[in-house]
Amino acid sequence: MANKMKSARSSNRVESQRFRLGVFIIGCVALSTYIVVSKPQIDPFLTRIAGSSKPLNPISQNNLEAKDPVDSPQTGTLQENMNPTKPLCHVSERRGDLCEMDGDIRIHQNTSSIISVEPFERNELWRVRPYSRKGADNDFNKIRELTVKSSTDAPQCTKNHSIPAIVFSVSGYTGNLFHDFTDLLVPLFLTARQFNGEVQFMVTDMKQWWVDKYLLVFRKLSNYQLINLDEDDQVHCFKHVIVGLQRHKELSIDPMKAPYGYSMVDFTQFMRSTYQLERDTVTKIEEYPRKNPRLLIISRKRTRAIINVRRIVQMAEELGYKVVVGNANSLSNITHFAEMVNSCDVLMGVHGAGLTNMVFLPPQATLIQIVPWGRLEKIAMTDFGYPAKDMDLNYLQYSISERESSLIRVYPRNHPVFKNPSSFHNRGWDLVKTTFMDNQNVKLDLRRFRDVLWKALESLMQ
Ligand SMILES: *[C@@H]1O[C@H](CO)[C@@H](O)[C@H](O)[C@H]1NC(C)=O
Ligand SMILES: *[C@@H]1O[C@H](CO)[C@@H](O)[C@H](O)[C@H]1NC(C)=O
Ligand SMILES: *[C@@H]1O[C@H](CO)[C@@H](O)[C@H](O)[C@H]1NC(C)=O
Repeated sequence: MANKMKSARSSNRVESQRFRLGVFIIGCVALSTYIVVSKPQIDPFLTRIAGSSKPLNPISQNNLEAKDPVDSPQTGTLQENMNPTKPLCHVSERRGDLCEMDGDIRIHQNTSSIISVEPFERNELWRVRPYSRKGADNDFNKIRELTVKSSTDAPQCTKNHSIPAIVFSVSGYTGNLFHDFTDLLVPLFLTARQFNGEVQFMVTDMKQWWVDKYLLVFRKLSNYQLINLDEDDQVHCFKHVIVGLQRHKELSIDPMKAPYGYSMVDFTQFMRSTYQLERDTVTKIEEYPRKNPRLLIISRKRTRAIINVRRIVQMAEELGYKVVVGNANSLSNITHFAEMVNSCDVLMGVHGAGLTNMVFLPPQATLIQIVPWGRLEKIAMTDFGYPAKDMDLNYLQYSISERESSLIRVYPRNHPVFKNPSSFHNRGWDLVKTTFMDNQNVKLDLRRFRDVLWKALESLMQ
């Protein structure tokens, strides 16, 4: 009997070993710092407790129990799983665990529980942090953990809802524009859009300023006032509940897996409609010969700055662009910045969160990503290159040479920084980040970069 009861422990221990092995730390400071996580799949945050795991002997149970006092929410007599329905939660995607339930579902903030009320005890219990970047790092532990379980027993409903609910956390890396979109807004679109507004959002780890910042997006996706699960004292009852958000890949959507085949093109169209952005296509030069194509340069300040940005502006103007220099800080008023981005035909900047603004560009516009020194091409493609293509943008990538890097004044030419940047990647992301991301500026070679600006112009002529 006891072995069935506490099968939980074994999976927990395995998970914590995996946790130690695999978790990976990256820092982040609001908009000015940009983060990428390149560690492959590690999944310590969603712990399957019952069901498939092997029973433990009583001794190790006790050991684990001592270390793990929070982990005994189960009550009543447990029985064999005689009801082989589909599991409440699944871990099909690398970053986004997802629980989905139909039936009599009760959400009780008091116990952080989401309970699927069932006639027979199935003994299923999961712990979930509903933010789509599992395996990320320490900050993940700050995200509120919810229990998703089946039970024959549950508190009385104090509020009945006829619409489905989506439960998610707005903690994690929110505040960094890239993470706002890749971890939350794109997954939220992917999960919620199918309900056409008839869905109730329930949020944990509430950050009011963040919700206010994207209020238009929330309003467009849900017709109902958001419920702050942290301060709520009701027992909410639903017939359909989703915990966590669907997520496919960085800043993008795989239409093969998305409801109704949603794609990033649908997402950017949704953003343009949300922010009432007018331009659905670029301005072709032949059609409007007297209108200069607009180039937006995203200029970072603290790291990965373009040192000779004035010369670039000058050169671009000589080529016929109307140039706007923007800065991620302007994003405090996202409506305003979105309008500005949408008015442009080309957006350029060094690899960093500011490039996320491409979601507001009209289709067929061009993104130019400047890749700093340090073998960062793969990350550059994953975070912005492939997403740009998925958004139906024209994508150009410019890798700087050693001579264009500020590192040349820091390290001798025969240093591994120049001779073997790959060796830094073998030693972990932290080192890559401090060496190449946090302490490097670029000084673009005017002659080389001119060709890229030309190519972007050509794309407006076809
Ligand atoms: C919530 O928890 C508190 C203390 O833990 C308890 O006194 C209260 O009755 C609970 N409320 C409900 C609705 O269960
Ligand atoms: C919610 O619905 C259940 C089942 O229909 C009903 O028994 C209960 O009284 C309702 N509760 C509220 C607060 O409306
Ligand atoms: C943000 O910008 C939009 C568009 O430029 C403007 O209408 C709105 O008043 C601004 N909001 C705030 C809070 O400044």
